[in-house]
Amino acid sequence: MSEEFSNHSDNREFEDVLNTYMSRRKLIVGSLAGAALTFMGGSAASASASKGAATGAKVAAKAPKIGFTSIPLQNSAMPTIAPEYTYSVLIPWREKLDGSGTSFDYIGFTAEQQEKSIGIGHDGMWYFGDDKKGLLCINHEYGTTPHIMGKKLPSSLEDVRLSQAAHGMSVVAIEKSGNKWKIAKSAKNRRIHGNTVAKMSGPAAKSALLVNAAGNKIQGTLNNCANGKTPWGTYLTCEENFNGYFGTASTTWKPSAEQARYGVNAGGFGYEWHKFDPRFDLANASYANEINRFGWVVEVDPNDPKSAPIKRTALGRIKHEGAELVIGKGGRAVVYMGDDERFDYVYKFVSRANWKTMIKEGVSPLDEGTLYVARFDDNGTGVWIELSPKTAQLSSWTLDKILVHTRLAADLVGATKMDRPEWIAGAPTGEMYVTLTNNTQRGTTGRAGVDKANPTAVNTYGHIIRWKDANDHLGGTFTWEVFALSKDVTDAGGQMFGSPDGIWVDPDNRVFVQTDGEQPGKQNDQMLVASGVTKEFKRLFTGVKGSEVTGVTVTPDRRTMFVNLQHPGDGDPSISNFPAKYEGLGGPVPRDCTIVITRKNGGVIGS
Ligand code: FEO
Ligand code: CA
Ligand code: CA
Repeated sequence: MSEEFSNHSDNREFEDVLNTYMSRRKLIVGSLAGAALTFMGGSAASASASKGAATGAKVAAKAPKIGFTSIPLQNSAMPTIAPEYTYSVLIPWREKLDGSGTSFDYIGFTAEQQEKSIGIGHDGMWYFGDDKKGLLCINHEYGTTPHIMGKKLPSSLEDVRLSQAAHGMSVVAIEKSGNKWKIAKSAKNRRIHGNTVAKMSGPAAKSALLVNAAGNKIQGTLNNCANGKTPWGTYLTCEENFNGYFGTASTTWKPSAEQARYGVNAGGFGYEWHKFDPRFDLANASYANEINRFGWVVEVDPNDPKSAPIKRTALGRIKHEGAELVIGKGGRAVVYMGDDERFDYVYKFVSRANWKTMIKEGVSPLDEGTLYVARFDDNGTGVWIELSPKTAQLSSWTLDKILVHTRLAADLVGATKMDRPEWIAGAPTGEMYVTLTNNTQRGTTGRAGVDKANPTAVNTYGHIIRWKDANDHLGGTFTWEVFALSKDVTDAGGQMFGSPDGIWVDPDNRVFVQTDGEQPGKQNDQMLVASGVTKEFKRLFTGVKGSEVTGVTVTPDRRTMFVNLQHPGDGDPSISNFPAKYEGLGGPVPRDCTIVITRKNGGVIGS
């Protein structure tokens, strides 16, 4: 989903830092200062050489085997996959949760039916289970009104309820029966959606900024993009472009400075829920703080179907892409998070104490701790700046205000404006990878976002950075390097990819990269596998026209991988009928779905 940019603060943009870093690097490589930039397997000298073997002198980790045949880019109606691999389709939108293997019809589809079936906009996910059965937690980011309902706009509250029910996430038991995976009958199968009763927890939970005059309950999770998981067995679902669901018909309403910083405007993304549901009407004084209840990391216990989703305020309120939790020194839970908007930031949360100790004390490790925002410096190092009243620029702020208006707090402390931070993934080496999906710079000074009328203004393809925190994730500093500039990653067919988004690093240091957006030659989105050591990329899978490839999780033996095809054909049956074979406009409406990937010889995925 593209964005208008809303960060007008004076903080330095990452492109400036990158350019300076790149030119300075040329001067100092080989010198002592160059040695100071070296970290992990590669050196700073290899930072821009993202094709082929790294030029770094020492290699810290063994290069993983990526032995499959890389396939070409495609613009096909159906997915393609490396010849050593095969795929099948699982849990398409509208499949019933009852394990019957049947789906509700598109014609006459109701909100009540949607609450009992797989949602739309399959995105981040995590599999909790063994090699044959388990629970799949899967995000449902968004679906357009034309795709969900076959009409341009909602015309009743029932329509709005259907759209709200299509969002959120599913917990669904799946099992392997023969060679095929399917939904199992389970009391744990459930939908969490835009109206599910939820809770707020952590330092801002009781903030007046989250209270409405209407006195309504905390309800719903929306635009659930990427994800995380915890060592205590829960799932994290992240609320990204929540602003788009709010709007108003009022001509006198104006966004506050705080709302403007989150891109809130009267039109929203055109969902028009506000016409029938007052919760989403920005001018309705009874629900003035409803919008502050979205933009959080939400924790869900997949094993307790009665449990409410919990919004963890200690992790701040941004357009949360994902939440990558790693265990730092002393057993602290450390969560890395990107805020997906042009010129927004990378964040980190560190729990107060050892996560096991906190749980024994009856305290969630995600409720007490410290939030930081990243500053990337020109010399390949960086600083985590604390977002609390202890930091001078925030001394007059209360903690709840910092956590609810996190973007504005981060603006004051000199964080580095990034090129749309998407997913973050931790590698077995301790390195953290972040995908920076693109940096359009369209319209220079005004920097208007992409829209359908200006689809080619995006002329850059994004990049991937990796860093390593000092002191096993607890240090206030880090060292960083560019892992790949998308435009420089090539194979025999030319440039390999653009717009990196989903990312996951396996225990052998294979880096799985998924794309969403501009691809070379306008080809379909895809999934690649790169070596975290040599930086060589191969293309494993390509999606279908109009879809993005997102979400990545595996069984413990890593012989089954689940990925998602989100919005095939952008929901338009004249473009794609996927998973059905392409027939054009008269064919079935395309369905977002999960793709099951296996290696024909039963090997580890990516090998
Ligand atoms: Fe939901 Fe930033 O992708
Ligand atoms: Ca994404
Ligand atoms: Ca995306």
